[in-house]
Amino acid sequence: MSKVHMSKAHTSKVHIQQLGKVFGTASANAVPALQDVNLVVEDGEFVTLVGASGCGKSTLLRILAGLEHHSSGSVHCNGAAITGPSADRAMVFQHYSLYPWLNVMDNIKFSRRLRVNRENLSSSDVETASGRADALLDLIGLSKVAKAYPNQLSGGMQQRVAIARALMGQPAMLLMDEPFGALDAQTREVMHDLILHIHRIEKTTIVFVTHDVDEAIYLGQRVVLMQPRPGRIHSMYSVPLPARRNHQMKHAPEFRALKAEILARIRESSGMATDLDLLDKLSRAADAI
Ligand SMILES: Nc1ncnc2c1ncn2[C@@H]1O[C@H](COP(=O)(O)OP(=O)(O)OP(=O)(O)O)[C@@H](O)[C@H]1O
Ligand SMILES: [Mg+2]
Repeated sequence: MSKVHMSKAHTSKVHIQQLGKVFGTASANAVPALQDVNLVVEDGEFVTLVGASGCGKSTLLRILAGLEHHSSGSVHCNGAAITGPSADRAMVFQHYSLYPWLNVMDNIKFSRRLRVNRENLSSSDVETASGRADALLDLIGLSKVAKAYPNQLSGGMQQRVAIARALMGQPAMLLMDEPFGALDAQTREVMHDLILHIHRIEKTTIVFVTHDVDEAIYLGQRVVLMQPRPGRIHSMYSVPLPARRNHQMKHAPEFRALKAEILARIRESSGMATDLDLLDKLSRAADAI
């Protein structure tokens, strides 16, 4: 196939078409987790996924990681159908997932070690890998604790190591499922700037799942809003902020307007609006007594 005639599926980083996922086989307990999902992610793009609990964000990310099979439609990365996990698509989870028996440096190099064993890489390859591990440690600001073990690190530090480990193999895509969900608000802010910095330097395509609308807007070039029952894409928003973000921008009218819009859509689609109306009625009824 000539380059000129390559289809969108072959030129975008990720191409998801009419994707569906049903959990369970018997029709009685089948859960339609995703339905008719269409999404294109461009090379180097930072896309955030938000939506009410159960709308299929993790399922979509796991399908991209190759950890879950889809039931219908198609999903391609770099033009190739995703059929299983690949070093090219690295995942960072919410819960700290470092190996407790390895120090920081060895955690970062771990996947590389596996490759060395499997592929018989030369010692110069291993040296290059060590250089990259050092550079990544620098990038996440943890060179001083290279020899420390995970239980000696704070949650934020452990997540930084997990990110460095995911970046070690120079993946084409970084898939992040609420990676900062367990961190306090101040540490999260630091992590936000760190991940934006990493995105600039490494130019990795990032798909980032979060519950937090502020986080989705602050980090994303585009926010994809999903809705539940069945999980599907409700709408997509280009974030109207400069590429270089700073925390002051959270007070900008564009930021606040987009946040209000997304929150209203989430409330509508999650059934929360009905619950709030009910609470309102109950409190008015109580006042009237
Ligand atoms: N392994 C599974 N078996 C059966 N049903 C599942 C499985 N994993 C997810 N589901 C269902 O699929 C739907 C989507 O789940 P998913 O975890 O992708 O949602 P989510 O948007 O990530 O939610 P949250 O914001 O709570 O993390 C839910 O109804 C969930 O119960
Ligand atoms: Mg989830």
